[in-house]
Amino acid sequence: MSYKLAPSILAADFTQLGAALKTVEQAGAEYIHFDVMDGCFVPNISFGTPVLRSIRDCTGLAFDVHLMIVKPERYLEPFAKAGADLISVHWEAMQDGERGLDNCVKTIKSLGKRVGVAVNPHTPLEPILPFVAQVDLVLIMSVEPGFGGQSLMPFTLGKAEQLADFIRKEGLKTEIEMDGGIDMSNVRSVLDAGVNVVVAGTSVFGASDIAQGVCGFLDVFSEYEAR
Ligand code: DX5
Ligand code: ZN
Repeated sequence: MSYKLAPSILAADFTQLGAALKTVEQAGAEYIHFDVMDGCFVPNISFGTPVLRSIRDCTGLAFDVHLMIVKPERYLEPFAKAGADLISVHWEAMQDGERGLDNCVKTIKSLGKRVGVAVNPHTPLEPILPFVAQVDLVLIMSVEPGFGGQSLMPFTLGKAEQLADFIRKEGLKTEIEMDGGIDMSNVRSVLDAGVNVVVAGTSVFGASDIAQGVCGFLDVFSEYEAR
């Protein structure tokens, strides 16, 4: 299994964003994770397509866009056009349940982008299991969405294990991403649970040495890939 790091720019110093992106890219990160928040779906507002557009041409990193917004179907095309490579929508934001998620998955694919579905910590996996074969990635929130710097909720590791079992039994290649409170103290538990894409904000962009923050994760990934 290959492991990928998705540093979240939510924790970045926006006065130095271009330089920070170059640092994480040169250090070996694969993704940049964009935590898009609308103040409705979550009690915080972050940024939108202007930020993606402004940095699209200054990095080769894949843009992993996490839409923590209501009615995400309204913004799939704008984020695709602004440079998203992967777009994840929240199951909890679907006004029309399975039909809504089906619509978002089809739209994101028609835009030529990879698609993810995200679930909050207390949302069971059952409602999204029928979609796991259709999406590229399932994003399991290990904190309540809205703010960086929180502590990982250990019970969410059990959800990752449940999902990894399902993916293995179904013979699928769907990736599992975990987002929130991941650092050197718990990343091994996160990988042991079957996660292969790790979102890290505070422990990378909040680190005194950003490159070292990235390398810490990549060293653990290499250890696991060598097994
Ligand atoms: C919450 C955000 C955070 C962020 C990562 O809505 O999605 O989980 O990306 O934050 P850290 O790594 O600082 O916990
Ligand atoms: Zn996120």
